[in-house]
Amino acid sequence: MADYIVRPAHEDDIPDLIALRLALQAHLEASNPHIYRMSAEGRARAELQLRELLQSDDALLLVAETAAGRLGGMVTGEVKRYPHMEPALIATIGVMYVTPEWREQGVGTALVTKMLAFFHEKGAEEISLRYVIGNAEAERFWTGLGFEPRIITAGTSCAKLSALLRRLDHTQKGGNMLDTIFARRSIRQYTDEPVTPEQIKKVLEAGMAAPSAANRKPWHFVAVTDRAKLNELAERHPHGKMLAQAAAAIVVCGDPQISERFWVHDCAAATENILLAITALGLGGVWLGVYPGDNREAAIREVLGIPKEINVLSMIALGHPAEQKEPRTQYDETRVHRNGW
Ligand SMILES: Cc1cc2nc3c(=O)[nH]c(=O)nc-3n(C[C@H](O)[C@H](O)[C@H](O)COP(=O)(O)O)c2cc1C
Repeated sequence: MADYIVRPAHEDDIPDLIALRLALQAHLEASNPHIYRMSAEGRARAELQLRELLQSDDALLLVAETAAGRLGGMVTGEVKRYPHMEPALIATIGVMYVTPEWREQGVGTALVTKMLAFFHEKGAEEISLRYVIGNAEAERFWTGLGFEPRIITAGTSCAKLSALLRRLDHTQKGGNMLDTIFARRSIRQYTDEPVTPEQIKKVLEAGMAAPSAANRKPWHFVAVTDRAKLNELAERHPHGKMLAQAAAAIVVCGDPQISERFWVHDCAAATENILLAITALGLGGVWLGVYPGDNREAAIREVLGIPKEINVLSMIALGHPAEQKEPRTQYDETRVHRNGW
């Protein structure tokens, strides 16, 4: 059974309190990888914030001290008046942490019991606190004391949101083809978010919607999402380092036995269709030339087990974009000849 007392903290406790505060932060970050990290400045300011609480009449900082004089837990609480709200006098529990070896021994409950007496004394009408989604211990503890989640915050990264907005933008414009054509740029940096099987199916459908001479459709596509294979392709293609970061690659192959004269044209049209579909889905991709480059084709055939009678025209690296490029045309009037050269 734990042998400890709960008492108000004082200035001498500050180094131990900082250690507890940082241990709590590490626990929160481990519970949910998406929560904000504490910056170096935040760590440096931890002491100042604790001192401010110690000096405030409307705040209380309690510690659980073991018989050996060590701090096994802490809680901070503050009562604030919000004139524009009802109820107006709200108590907030800020930091609450019990070290792992002192858990399940009533330390947390003893800290909260004493804090509650302070809140009563101050006339607080409501008590509110925050805990991180994924922190199962905190959730169990607080719900056990009758705390019910009321406000949940949700977050995403700017990169994810802008990809989503681009996708919506395309959809709202009815997938305006000209916008998509101008928006297609070679995107060579990707986040680590995977692409879904549905997205891959959609880009392959776009590839197979391309025109082909005599409608022979001499193409085959190898969709690669296996990380080890993507890494190997990145090593074997002289300008394909981004494949090591990409979520997927589509390898566009042609069967010259189906169309000896036009397999290159047909596979090039399919490649461009795939790039446009990638853009329309809010993803990013880049065309990597393979045919007729020296021994690039042989290397890719070897990695993916492509039969030797099948040619490889191109690879497309794709993923969620981690770089933004402006839509553009590269219109050049000098390259336009009207009614003859
Ligand atoms: C046949 C072909 C081969 C290409 N090969 C590569 C390549 O190996 N690596 C690469 O990073 N980009 C490659 N690209 C992409 C071009 O560099 C890119 O399209 C060009 O710089 C214009 O930029 P944009 O795509 O953003 O309009 C290739 C493009 C084509 C059409």
